[in-house]
Amino acid sequence: MSDKKKLSIHTIQKMKANGEKIAWMTAYDYPTAEFAEAAGMEMLLVGDSLGMCVYGYKGTVPVTMDQCIVHCEAVRRGAPNTFVMGDMPFMSYQVSDEEAARNAGRFLKEADVDAIKLEGGQRVVSRIRAILDAGIVVCGHIGLTPQSSGQLGGHKAQGRTIASARALLEDALAIEEAGAQMLLLEAVPPEVAAFVVEKLSIPVFGIGAGPHTDGQLIIVSDVIGQFQAFTPKFVKKYANVAQVITDAMKAYVSEVKGGVFPADEHCYHMLKDEVGKFPELKADFE
Ligand code: KIV
Repeated sequence: MSDKKKLSIHTIQKMKANGEKIAWMTAYDYPTAEFAEAAGMEMLLVGDSLGMCVYGYKGTVPVTMDQCIVHCEAVRRGAPNTFVMGDMPFMSYQVSDEEAARNAGRFLKEADVDAIKLEGGQRVVSRIRAILDAGIVVCGHIGLTPQSSGQLGGHKAQGRTIASARALLEDALAIEEAGAQMLLLEAVPPEVAAFVVEKLSIPVFGIGAGPHTDGQLIIVSDVIGQFQAFTPKFVKKYANVAQVITDAMKAYVSEVKGGVFPADEHCYHMLKDEVGKFPELKADFE
């Protein structure tokens, strides 16, 4: 465990005020959360991207509340001092304000997260207010919103036309006005993201939104080269763990088949005083 002080929403707000960039990544499990905390990550998102990155689903829609809670619990155990955010999965907040508040509350009650994130702009304002009324820190998420990618016509960047940029701005202002403490922009042109940052006072984060936001989010499975199905344009790969893991597994298979593994140093030998009595035991079984 690191000796980092527990991060809160106040720490994040102070960092923005000081012009300090904030590093944010997804995590879905205990070891990755431990690595992230040790690496100095300020924030972790237990994203519903776990549907693709952990469960092998085609998208995020099948992900359930129970799955999110289990992964949030593991991440919290691995990163006790990092600002951990739970991601509200599809149909956990779409039906009513009451369901939204109840499900958001589960993230805090069962997994001890610091905040929740939900997708959508003006249409989720009443949900944001209901969750805030329960005393929960909220992060809005607009731009490319994967849960509604059907309506967006696929996983497409948003805000690339003046009409779309205007709608994005209106959504951003509505989210801040509703009281959300943070905003995430996904797949948005850098100049539009910069204008959102200028117009809002809450911390604004980007994933595929250029360099001008207060902080950056990225999906861990992309960054470490683990997720193989596709690579979005905004991803920079810092490692190729898929290669490292596959090479290690191939070497293991080859050594098992060749009788090379396990070697003597991997064996538990009988105690020195006992080994001389082994022929006696063998004889008893003849
Ligand atoms: O689930 C997730 O990881 C996300 C990011 C893609 C923004 O919501």
